[in-house]
Amino acid sequence: MTALSRYDLNGRTALVTGAGGLLGRQHVAALVEAGARVVVTDIDTKYADAAISAIRETSPSADLVAAAIDVTSQDSVRAAHEALAGRGIAVDILVNNAAIDPKVTSTPGVMHSSRFEAFSVPQWQTEIAVGLTGAMLCSQSFGGAMARRRRGVILNIASDLGVIAPDQRLYRQPGVTREDEQPVKPVTYSVIKHGLLGLTKYLATYWAEHGVRVNAISPGGVFNNQDPAFVERLMRLIPMGRMADVDEYRAAIQFLCSDASSYMTGQNLVMDGGRSVW
Ligand SMILES: NC(=O)c1ccc[n+]([C@@H]2O[C@H](COP(=O)([O-])OP(=O)(O)OC[C@H]3O[C@@H](n4cnc5c(N)ncnc54)[C@H](O)[C@@H]3O)[C@@H](O)[C@H]2O)c1
Repeated sequence: MTALSRYDLNGRTALVTGAGGLLGRQHVAALVEAGARVVVTDIDTKYADAAISAIRETSPSADLVAAAIDVTSQDSVRAAHEALAGRGIAVDILVNNAAIDPKVTSTPGVMHSSRFEAFSVPQWQTEIAVGLTGAMLCSQSFGGAMARRRRGVILNIASDLGVIAPDQRLYRQPGVTREDEQPVKPVTYSVIKHGLLGLTKYLATYWAEHGVRVNAISPGGVFNNQDPAFVERLMRLIPMGRMADVDEYRAAIQFLCSDASSYMTGQNLVMDGGRSVW
């Protein structure tokens, strides 16, 4: 086996959650490029279908299957797992990607709802349910089946904010004079992303002898036409002086989901332009 052939995913089936979003589509494209069949899932099949149409424009022969999975619902995850099994589809690679990342904007005159002192229990529960409970439920169903087959890979999509705290100066809005009206990156994002790294280590050791490897990737922010003032402030915090291009994580996804990383489990690959080491 050559080193390059270890990246080959022909004959493997991957499943990506939240695959209709910005990075989910990139993960699907990366897995397709390496030869995998990919189950493209999102909370509604219309998002999965849209992602599939976009990917087919550049990869017309891609082997793609759409499925609706609400990762917050154990019933939804189990039903999808059973439906796929009924079609003879066993998932070898699970990418826990779905998350909610609320836009940080401000409403003058009221304490901002993103601030820790005002943070509501429903918002806490909603975001944790998608970003953290969702990864647990999908790992339980699909990872459990991998462990029984004694083969599989789970990749949790964390963030540079799974390693460092958010720098709240990035999110300050000009003209908002009262401190408690300034929006912040919500506490949930930190808790979810740090939690995913805990889940990664837990499952890596739990299933190490069952042939299931579990790793995480911590991407830095992707440039997506954000407010120029925000981008300017963020760039100053990144040694490489720029945000990531949207397709810049594809090679890492291929590495972490394939036998190229066959002796790696329980780890977190930080790709953040150096931000977390400054
Ligand atoms: N974009 C970035 O700069 C960046 C940086 C670091 C980490 N990340 C992480 O990468 C992942 C993807 O981010 P993105 O920017 O593509 O986000 P996105 O908002 O574009 O996509 C998220 C997807 O999750 C789906 N989703 C929401 N609730 C769901 C549910 N209950 N069940 C199933 N799917 C659900 C949404 O429909 C959406 O398609 C997230 O985990 C995010 O935290 C993103």
